[in-house]
Amino acid sequence: MQITEDLPRRTTFRENYTPGYSTNATAFMSSRTLESHAAFVLPLLDRGQEVLDVGCGPGSITQGIAEHVLPGRVTALDRDPAQVAHAARLAEGREQINLRYVAGSAYELPFAAASFDLVFSHALFEHLSNPRGALAEMRRVLRPGGLIALSSPDWDSFEMRKSTPAAEAAIRDYRDLQERNGGDTSAGGRLVRLLQEGEFGLIRQGQRFENYESPMRIATYLALQLDAAGNAGAAHALIDWSTEPGAELLGCWKHVIGIKWNR
Ligand SMILES: C[S@@+](CC[C@H](N)C(=O)[O-])C[C@H]1O[C@@H](n2cnc3c(N)ncnc32)[C@H](O)[C@@H]1O
Repeated sequence: MQITEDLPRRTTFRENYTPGYSTNATAFMSSRTLESHAAFVLPLLDRGQEVLDVGCGPGSITQGIAEHVLPGRVTALDRDPAQVAHAARLAEGREQINLRYVAGSAYELPFAAASFDLVFSHALFEHLSNPRGALAEMRRVLRPGGLIALSSPDWDSFEMRKSTPAAEAAIRDYRDLQERNGGDTSAGGRLVRLLQEGEFGLIRQGQRFENYESPMRIATYLALQLDAAGNAGAAHALIDWSTEPGAELLGCWKHVIGIKWNR
Protein backbone atom coordinates (compact mmCIF):
# COMPACT_ATOMS: atom_id res chain seq x y z
CA MET A 1 0.00 0.00 0.00
CA GLN A 2 1.26 3.44 -0.82
CA ILE A 3 0.04 6.87 0.21
CA THR A 4 0.91 9.98 -1.73
CA GLU A 5 -0.24 13.45 -1.03
CA ASP A 6 -0.48 15.16 -4.35
CA LEU A 7 -2.53 18.13 -3.25
CA PRO A 8 -4.56 19.94 -5.90
CA ARG A 9 -2.97 23.04 -7.33
CA ARG A 10 -6.23 24.85 -6.71
CA THR A 11 -6.87 24.83 -2.99
CA THR A 12 -10.30 26.46 -2.89
CA PHE A 13 -13.45 24.66 -3.95
CA ARG A 14 -16.57 26.31 -5.21
CA GLU A 15 -18.59 23.69 -3.42
CA ASN A 16 -18.89 22.84 0.24
CA TYR A 17 -19.03 19.13 0.92
CA THR A 18 -22.35 18.85 2.82
CA PRO A 19 -21.86 15.65 4.91
CA GLY A 20 -18.52 16.88 6.24
CA TYR A 21 -16.07 14.53 7.93
CA SER A 22 -17.68 13.93 11.31
CA THR A 23 -17.28 10.55 13.00
CA ASN A 24 -20.93 9.90 12.17
CA ALA A 25 -20.58 10.71 8.46
CA THR A 26 -17.37 8.72 8.09
CA ALA A 27 -18.81 5.68 9.91
CA PHE A 28 -21.97 5.93 7.80
CA MET A 29 -19.94 5.67 4.60
CA SER A 30 -17.51 3.05 5.93
CA SER A 31 -20.36 0.55 6.18
CA ARG A 32 -20.74 0.52 2.38
CA THR A 33 -19.30 -2.38 0.42
CA LEU A 34 -18.81 -3.10 -3.25
CA GLU A 35 -21.55 -5.72 -3.04
CA SER A 36 -24.05 -3.60 -1.07
CA HIS A 37 -23.64 -0.31 -2.93
CA ALA A 38 -21.88 -0.86 -6.22
CA ALA A 39 -22.75 -4.38 -7.39
CA PHE A 40 -23.41 -2.89 -10.83
CA VAL A 41 -19.62 -2.61 -11.25
CA LEU A 42 -18.88 -6.29 -10.52
CA PRO A 43 -19.33 -7.48 -14.14
CA LEU A 44 -16.80 -4.86 -15.30
CA LEU A 45 -13.97 -5.92 -12.99
CA ASP A 46 -11.15 -8.05 -14.31
CA ARG A 47 -7.75 -9.20 -13.08
CA GLY A 48 -4.97 -6.81 -14.03
CA GLN A 49 -7.06 -3.67 -14.52
CA GLU A 50 -5.86 -0.22 -13.49
CA VAL A 51 -8.81 1.40 -11.69
CA LEU A 52 -9.35 4.90 -10.33
CA ASP A 53 -11.93 5.56 -7.59
CA VAL A 54 -12.71 9.29 -7.45
CA GLY A 55 -14.10 10.57 -4.12
CA CYS A 56 -13.20 7.33 -2.32
CA GLY A 57 -14.06 8.65 1.17
CA PRO A 58 -13.21 5.99 3.78
CA GLY A 59 -12.61 3.58 0.92
CA SER A 60 -14.67 0.55 1.93
CA ILE A 61 -16.01 0.13 -1.62
CA THR A 62 -12.51 0.71 -3.01
CA GLN A 63 -11.17 -2.23 -1.01
CA GLY A 64 -13.72 -4.53 -2.62
CA ILE A 65 -12.68 -3.37 -6.08
CA ALA A 66 -9.00 -3.99 -5.26
CA GLU A 67 -9.72 -7.62 -4.35
CA HIS A 68 -11.28 -8.19 -7.77
CA VAL A 69 -8.56 -6.66 -9.95
CA LEU A 70 -5.39 -8.05 -8.33
CA PRO A 71 -2.65 -7.95 -9.63
CA GLY A 72 -4.04 -4.76 -11.19
CA ARG A 73 -3.96 -1.65 -9.04
CA VAL A 74 -6.65 0.62 -7.62
CA THR A 75 -5.94 4.28 -7.02
CA ALA A 76 -8.22 5.84 -4.41
CA LEU A 77 -8.48 9.62 -4.64
CA ASP A 78 -10.23 12.08 -2.36
CA ARG A 79 -9.98 15.83 -1.97
CA ASP A 80 -9.62 15.53 1.80
CA PRO A 81 -6.14 14.42 2.92
CA ALA A 82 -7.48 13.28 6.32
CA GLN A 83 -10.07 11.09 4.60
CA VAL A 84 -7.36 9.61 2.40
CA ALA A 85 -5.22 8.84 5.46
CA HIS A 86 -8.25 7.33 7.20
CA ALA A 87 -9.02 5.12 4.18
CA ALA A 88 -5.41 3.94 4.11
CA ARG A 89 -5.56 3.08 7.82
CA LEU A 90 -8.80 1.11 7.35
CA ALA A 91 -7.15 -0.94 4.61
CA GLU A 92 -4.10 -1.73 6.72
CA GLY A 93 -3.64 -5.40 7.47
CA ARG A 94 -5.90 -6.49 4.63
CA GLU A 95 -2.84 -7.49 2.66
CA GLN A 96 -3.94 -5.42 -0.27
CA ILE A 97 -0.74 -4.34 -1.85
CA ASN A 98 -2.55 -3.12 -4.94
CA LEU A 99 -4.07 0.01 -3.38
CA ARG A 100 -2.62 3.48 -3.48
CA TYR A 101 -4.17 6.56 -1.90
CA VAL A 102 -3.90 10.05 -3.33
CA ALA A 103 -5.23 13.39 -2.06
CA GLY A 104 -6.41 15.46 -5.00
CA SER A 105 -9.31 17.14 -6.76
CA ALA A 106 -11.74 15.53 -9.18
CA TYR A 107 -11.30 18.71 -11.24
CA GLU A 108 -7.54 18.31 -11.60
CA LEU A 109 -6.75 14.64 -11.44
CA PRO A 110 -3.01 14.30 -10.82
CA PHE A 111 -2.56 11.54 -13.42
CA ALA A 112 -1.34 11.32 -16.99
CA ALA A 113 -3.83 10.97 -19.82
CA ALA A 114 -4.99 7.44 -20.65
CA SER A 115 -3.73 5.96 -17.34
CA PHE A 116 -6.75 3.87 -16.32
CA ASP A 117 -8.92 1.05 -17.67
CA LEU A 118 -11.85 1.93 -15.42
CA VAL A 119 -12.86 5.08 -13.58
CA PHE A 120 -15.37 4.56 -10.80
CA SER A 121 -17.11 7.09 -8.62
CA HIS A 122 -19.80 6.48 -6.02
CA ALA A 123 -21.67 9.26 -4.22
CA LEU A 124 -19.54 12.09 -5.59
CA PHE A 125 -21.46 13.83 -8.36
CA GLU A 126 -24.26 15.02 -6.06
CA HIS A 127 -21.65 17.16 -4.30
CA LEU A 128 -20.07 18.72 -7.39
CA SER A 129 -20.83 22.20 -8.65
CA ASN A 130 -19.14 21.44 -11.97
CA PRO A 131 -19.98 17.84 -12.88
CA ARG A 132 -19.03 18.38 -16.52
CA GLY A 133 -15.55 19.53 -15.49
CA ALA A 134 -15.01 16.46 -13.31
CA LEU A 135 -16.32 14.14 -16.01
CA ALA A 136 -13.96 15.67 -18.59
CA GLU A 137 -11.03 14.97 -16.25
CA MET A 138 -12.20 11.39 -15.79
CA ARG A 139 -12.39 11.02 -19.57
CA ARG A 140 -8.88 12.41 -19.98
CA VAL A 141 -7.32 9.85 -17.62
CA LEU A 142 -9.21 6.91 -19.18
CA ARG A 143 -7.56 4.98 -21.97
CA PRO A 144 -9.49 4.82 -25.25
CA GLY A 145 -11.98 2.00 -24.88
CA GLY A 146 -11.89 2.41 -21.09
CA LEU A 147 -15.02 2.31 -18.96
CA ILE A 148 -16.61 4.74 -16.55
CA ALA A 149 -19.02 3.69 -13.79
CA LEU A 150 -20.87 6.33 -11.77
CA SER A 151 -23.57 6.19 -9.12
CA SER A 152 -25.36 8.96 -7.25
CA PRO A 153 -28.63 9.41 -5.39
CA ASP A 154 -31.70 10.93 -6.98
CA TRP A 155 -33.74 12.62 -4.29
CA ASP A 156 -36.56 13.19 -6.79
CA SER A 157 -37.33 9.47 -6.49
CA PHE A 158 -36.83 8.63 -2.80
CA GLU A 159 -39.66 7.18 -0.74
CA MET A 160 -40.48 7.94 2.85
CA ARG A 161 -42.97 5.87 4.87
CA LYS A 162 -44.92 7.28 7.82
CA SER A 163 -43.67 10.71 6.87
CA THR A 164 -44.98 13.77 8.64
CA PRO A 165 -45.27 17.27 7.16
CA ALA A 166 -42.38 18.31 9.42
CA ALA A 167 -40.20 15.42 8.24
CA GLU A 168 -40.99 16.18 4.61
CA ALA A 169 -40.10 19.83 5.20
CA ALA A 170 -36.84 18.67 6.81
CA ILE A 171 -35.96 16.63 3.71
CA ARG A 172 -36.66 19.70 1.58
CA ASP A 173 -34.38 21.70 3.89
CA TYR A 174 -31.68 19.05 3.51
CA ARG A 175 -31.95 19.25 -0.26
CA ASP A 176 -31.80 23.04 -0.14
CA LEU A 177 -28.71 22.85 2.07
CA GLN A 178 -26.90 20.53 -0.32
CA GLU A 179 -27.82 22.74 -3.25
CA ARG A 180 -26.69 25.91 -1.47
CA ASN A 181 -23.41 24.08 -0.95
CA GLY A 182 -23.07 23.73 -4.73
CA GLY A 183 -24.37 20.16 -4.97
CA ASP A 184 -27.32 18.66 -6.82
CA THR A 185 -29.68 16.27 -5.04
CA SER A 186 -31.06 15.14 -8.42
CA ALA A 187 -27.58 14.27 -9.71
CA GLY A 188 -28.37 10.55 -10.06
CA GLY A 189 -31.16 11.34 -12.51
CA ARG A 190 -28.84 13.46 -14.63
CA LEU A 191 -26.03 10.91 -15.04
CA VAL A 192 -27.19 9.51 -18.40
CA ARG A 193 -27.35 12.92 -20.03
CA LEU A 194 -24.08 13.94 -18.41
CA LEU A 195 -22.30 10.92 -19.93
CA GLN A 196 -23.80 11.42 -23.35
CA GLU A 197 -22.95 15.11 -23.40
CA GLY A 198 -19.46 14.22 -22.13
CA GLU A 199 -18.74 12.15 -25.24
CA PHE A 200 -19.12 8.75 -23.64
CA GLY A 201 -21.09 5.93 -25.15
CA LEU A 202 -23.81 4.78 -22.76
CA ILE A 203 -23.54 1.05 -22.13
CA ARG A 204 -25.99 0.59 -19.28
CA GLN A 205 -28.08 2.49 -16.78
CA GLY A 206 -30.01 1.33 -13.73
CA GLN A 207 -31.22 2.14 -10.28
CA ARG A 208 -31.64 0.55 -6.91
CA PHE A 209 -33.43 1.52 -3.72
CA GLU A 210 -31.50 1.50 -0.49
CA ASN A 211 -33.85 0.65 2.31
CA TYR A 212 -32.04 2.06 5.31
CA GLU A 213 -32.33 -0.73 7.85
CA SER A 214 -32.34 1.72 10.72
CA PRO A 215 -34.49 4.84 10.14
CA MET A 216 -32.77 6.33 13.21
CA ARG A 217 -29.35 5.92 11.57
CA ILE A 218 -30.23 7.71 8.32
CA ALA A 219 -32.22 10.33 10.26
CA THR A 220 -29.23 10.99 12.53
CA TYR A 221 -26.87 11.24 9.55
CA LEU A 222 -29.08 13.86 7.90
CA ALA A 223 -30.02 15.59 11.16
CA LEU A 224 -26.40 16.17 12.18
CA GLN A 225 -25.77 17.94 8.90
CA LEU A 226 -28.89 20.07 9.27
CA ASP A 227 -27.99 20.89 12.86
CA ALA A 228 -24.43 21.84 11.90
CA ALA A 229 -25.97 24.23 9.36
CA GLY A 230 -28.07 25.83 12.11
CA ASN A 231 -31.38 24.11 11.36
CA ALA A 232 -32.09 22.36 14.66
CA GLY A 233 -35.85 22.31 13.98
CA ALA A 234 -35.45 20.18 10.86
CA ALA A 235 -32.95 17.95 12.65
CA HIS A 236 -35.45 17.26 15.45
CA ALA A 237 -38.28 16.64 12.97
CA LEU A 238 -36.25 13.88 11.30
CA ILE A 239 -35.31 12.23 14.57
CA ASP A 240 -38.96 12.36 15.70
CA TRP A 241 -40.10 10.79 12.43
CA SER A 242 -37.53 7.97 12.75
CA THR A 243 -39.06 6.79 16.05
CA GLU A 244 -42.53 6.31 14.50
CA PRO A 245 -43.45 2.61 14.10
CA GLY A 246 -43.20 1.76 10.40
CA ALA A 247 -40.93 4.67 9.54
CA GLU A 248 -38.79 3.84 6.50
CA LEU A 249 -36.63 5.77 4.07
CA LEU A 250 -35.81 4.29 0.70
CA GLY A 251 -33.04 6.20 -1.01
CA CYS A 252 -32.91 5.98 -4.80
CA TRP A 253 -29.44 5.43 -6.32
CA LYS A 254 -28.98 5.67 -10.06
CA HIS A 255 -25.97 4.36 -11.94
CA VAL A 256 -24.50 4.51 -15.41
CA ILE A 257 -21.76 2.67 -17.24
CA GLY A 258 -20.13 4.36 -20.21
CA ILE A 259 -17.29 3.79 -22.63
CA LYS A 260 -14.70 6.23 -23.93
CA TRP A 261 -14.83 5.61 -27.64
CA ASN A 262 -11.59 4.89 -29.36
CA ARG A 263 -10.89 8.43 -30.56
C1 LIG B 1 -20.31 10.89 0.00
S1 LIG B 1 -18.60 10.56 0.08
C2 LIG B 1 -18.53 9.03 -0.80
C3 LIG B 1 -17.39 8.17 -0.37
C4 LIG B 1 -17.35 6.79 -1.06
N1 LIG B 1 -17.19 6.91 -2.47
C5 LIG B 1 -18.61 6.05 -0.72
O1 LIG B 1 -19.50 5.99 -1.55
O2 LIG B 1 -18.71 5.55 0.39
C6 LIG B 1 -17.96 11.70 -1.13
C7 LIG B 1 -16.45 11.89 -1.07
O3 LIG B 1 -16.09 12.72 -2.18
C8 LIG B 1 -15.08 13.61 -1.77
N2 LIG B 1 -15.12 14.80 -2.64
C9 LIG B 1 -16.04 15.77 -2.64
N3 LIG B 1 -15.75 16.68 -3.60
C10 LIG B 1 -14.61 16.24 -4.21
C11 LIG B 1 -13.80 16.74 -5.25
N4 LIG B 1 -14.12 17.88 -5.86
N5 LIG B 1 -12.70 16.05 -5.60
C12 LIG B 1 -12.37 14.89 -4.97
N6 LIG B 1 -13.10 14.37 -3.97
C13 LIG B 1 -14.21 15.03 -3.59
C14 LIG B 1 -15.42 13.94 -0.32
O4 LIG B 1 -14.27 14.39 0.37
C15 LIG B 1 -15.97 12.61 0.18
O5 LIG B 1 -14.99 11.86 0.83
